[in-house]
Amino acid sequence: MDAALALIGEDLKNVELQFKKDLQSDVPLIRKVGEYVLSSGGKRIRPALLLLSAQLCGYFGERSVPLASVVEFIHTATLLHDDVVDNANLRRGLASANTLWGNEASVLVGDFLFSKSFSLMVADGDLRILKALADATTIISEGEVLQLVCTSDLDITVERYLEVVRCKTAILLSAACEVGAILGEVSPELRQNITDYGMELGVAFQLMDDILDYTATEEQFGKSIGHDLEEGKITLPLIHTLKCCTADEREVIGGIVEKDLLSDEDFAQVFGLVHRYGGIEHTIEAARGHVAQCKKHLEAFPPSPARDALAELAEYVVTRAK
Ligand code: IPE
Ligand code: IPE
Ligand code: MG
Ligand code: MG
Repeated sequence: MDAALALIGEDLKNVELQFKKDLQSDVPLIRKVGEYVLSSGGKRIRPALLLLSAQLCGYFGERSVPLASVVEFIHTATLLHDDVVDNANLRRGLASANTLWGNEASVLVGDFLFSKSFSLMVADGDLRILKALADATTIISEGEVLQLVCTSDLDITVERYLEVVRCKTAILLSAACEVGAILGEVSPELRQNITDYGMELGVAFQLMDDILDYTATEEQFGKSIGHDLEEGKITLPLIHTLKCCTADEREVIGGIVEKDLLSDEDFAQVFGLVHRYGGIEHTIEAARGHVAQCKKHLEAFPPSPARDALAELAEYVVTRAK
């Protein structure tokens, strides 16, 4: 990540200042919850992608910082809502907003962040950017609902799972990259290449997240381990396992997936099967495949420090521990 940070470190600091400005509201609870989440140490992947894509496409002007802030606002709004939907108590190593202030405040402040994002996009005034990000937020909602209806479905296909992943996660990384291309006024072909880079990167990013839910430590990951399973989310490590395991083992998994609360033994049992059938390795391979594809899209661009940084970011996604 060093190359990336050297190129955009200053801009990322300005993105943090921009959040503070954009969070201003006469309603104190909005500032309180908003500041808590926004200053709790997110990785800022989406702003980084926007800033680097803009540089890759030759844009070095003033609009990228406020737009990078908007993209992180949208991401933060989705996290506030997502933690309510997922009953999550831990986010970025801290108590989640819903744990501290309740579901109502989380949903409503999430709504504030969404609406504010749209005001900020209108202030930027570029309809192409408004369309890219508005479409992305619609698709995120579709992804979250699609995932909801797939809850506890042992028959979920890899294709359906990947559709959820593209919609709930990858689309926003992709749109962040596309905004950079719009700012740089590059050709439609190049715009498509960087948009596709973001999509493939985003899929790899979520696959790794789904692995970390099985393999990470809570301290490093900053989120509860085994929580996907507890919430009935059948992710690729388990989908692969379900394809390979015996009918009896499938029944055991089915029983555990249906439970509301998992004991350590429940988790250990499923993890043992995932381990036995190579579910983690299979998912890492899949993530690596998406990273290789995403890097190919960068070849359409001439060599530049931004291109190197985006390639480095792609490698980081499959090695991250949080
Ligand atoms: C969390 O995203 C939600 C997923 C798409 C897995 P990040 O892992 O980018 O969250 P922060 O912003 O760094 O905490
Ligand atoms: C990620 O959702 C996508 C959104 C937040 C829209 P997840 O539920 O998979 O991610 P975490 O594990 O809560 O970060
Ligand atoms: Mg979640
Ligand atoms: Mg979720």
